[in-house]
Amino acid sequence: MKDQLIVFDTTLRDGEQSPGASMTQEEKIRIAKILEKMRVDVIEAGFPAASEGDAEAVKAVAEVIRDSTVCGLARAVQGDIDRAAESVKPANQSRIHTFIATSPIHMREKLRMEPEEVLQQAVWAVRYARKFTDDVEFSPEDAGRSDLDFLCRVVEAAIEAGATTVNIPDTVGYSVPSQFGNVIRQLIERVPNSDQAVFSVHCHNDLGLAVANSLEAVMNGARQVECTINGLGERAGNASLEELVMAVRTRQDVFPCDTRLDTTNIVPASRLVSTITGFPVQPNKAVVGANAFAHESGIHQDGVIKKRETYEIMRAEDVGWSANRMVLGKHSGRNAFKTRLKELGVEFKTEEELNSAFSRFKNLADKKHEIFDEDLQALVTEESLEQETERFKLITLHVCSQTGETPKATVTLSVDAAETTSVAEGSGPVDATFKAIEKIVNSGGQLQLYSVSNITSGTDAQGEVTVRLEKGGRIVNGHGADTDIVIASAKSYIMALNKLMTSSQRQHPQHSSAI
Ligand code: KIV
Ligand code: ZN
Repeated sequence: MKDQLIVFDTTLRDGEQSPGASMTQEEKIRIAKILEKMRVDVIEAGFPAASEGDAEAVKAVAEVIRDSTVCGLARAVQGDIDRAAESVKPANQSRIHTFIATSPIHMREKLRMEPEEVLQQAVWAVRYARKFTDDVEFSPEDAGRSDLDFLCRVVEAAIEAGATTVNIPDTVGYSVPSQFGNVIRQLIERVPNSDQAVFSVHCHNDLGLAVANSLEAVMNGARQVECTINGLGERAGNASLEELVMAVRTRQDVFPCDTRLDTTNIVPASRLVSTITGFPVQPNKAVVGANAFAHESGIHQDGVIKKRETYEIMRAEDVGWSANRMVLGKHSGRNAFKTRLKELGVEFKTEEELNSAFSRFKNLADKKHEIFDEDLQALVTEESLEQETERFKLITLHVCSQTGETPKATVTLSVDAAETTSVAEGSGPVDATFKAIEKIVNSGGQLQLYSVSNITSGTDAQGEVTVRLEKGGRIVNGHGADTDIVIASAKSYIMALNKLMTSSQRQHPQHSSAI
């Protein structure tokens, strides 16, 4: 029997720390559900001390997830640990993850604490967290740049205080594989009580080495990997779940352990995270990129036709790739619609929700002959988001675009339930539409990103638009889908405005010390 490699997903916490990737409670629940379906062992659902909204979102995830452990992050201070404990309480299995920095630069410049004080604080925090749950994870932040002797002392003390998982973060992505693997091996060998905790790693990708460092750590005894879908995360991101899991699964001849993941949910999870955050997946991204299983050269195509294994080391269907399947059409009924969405992991809380989604589906089916899984997913993503985007609503849009004429848009919005219309010209129909919306809302937000992609193929496909707006350092995303890309653009811009004008400020776990 091989050891189990525990998969700890932090898409909802570290992933959310990517600028512009903030997620609503509904979105977090949808991602958490697909992670649970994938059999991820631990879901880090957020940093409850960051804001009231974060605490509520972690609690909401803890209430619905039954099969995965739900974890909340906390700095090594009482307020954070209390918040995390309260938020994860409804979970079947809960974990508190507490951390404090141990590198000389972080202790001196950020925490302004002596190493001995840091050690005492770590011990106190783990003991305090253990009052709420038996499952406590401790991280010495910036371990990748910490002194190994000091790290050994902190880790030993944390285990002695009750930490059941010790996570070694390469917070700034500074490590290289052989050296990082050596750190893990040394820790396990030198810390006398290392057999009483699971060793975990949390690698950032600043040098593009997050997955390589994590795998080297696994070869040297780590039995938990922290990762995110699509490698989302602070700065260059975290180790990507799909790459880590598939490396271990594909190279069972090399790795002494395996995960219990159902990998067929990997591609749907990747798509969902990409749609929700508006972060596209690069086509050549391993495992989940659109070209990951595409063969262009004739020699390769010929080889794959003769024997797939000539050029493919994994089976596309094992990670959830399937040909676009026509699932529903104009004549499909409410029950077929509901059943297919259930298969895709989406369930409606109320009859009204189902009715409203079904009426959108019918509208789409009028315009588009064949409805694929991807269309359904876009439709419900929009549905779930729209409930929270009530301040501004698109009522009508009329666009005039003609050769030799300046494009003009007439937009009617409902603003706090009152209808307002405005007209604007622009360099193109989308520009005119955004200008007309801005005339009404006057948000002052700066457009940072505008991207359009097709959800399925064909000219009748829905266009999915992502808009990113920035104002006073806050970044928000909006997305919208429609067979008309100008309408999709308007929807996505309005969604971003709703977030920009309503969400509250969040605190970043690592930018300030409450100690
Ligand atoms: O990168 C990091 O050090 C973290 C910790 C909070 C684990 O995200
Ligand atoms: Zn991190």
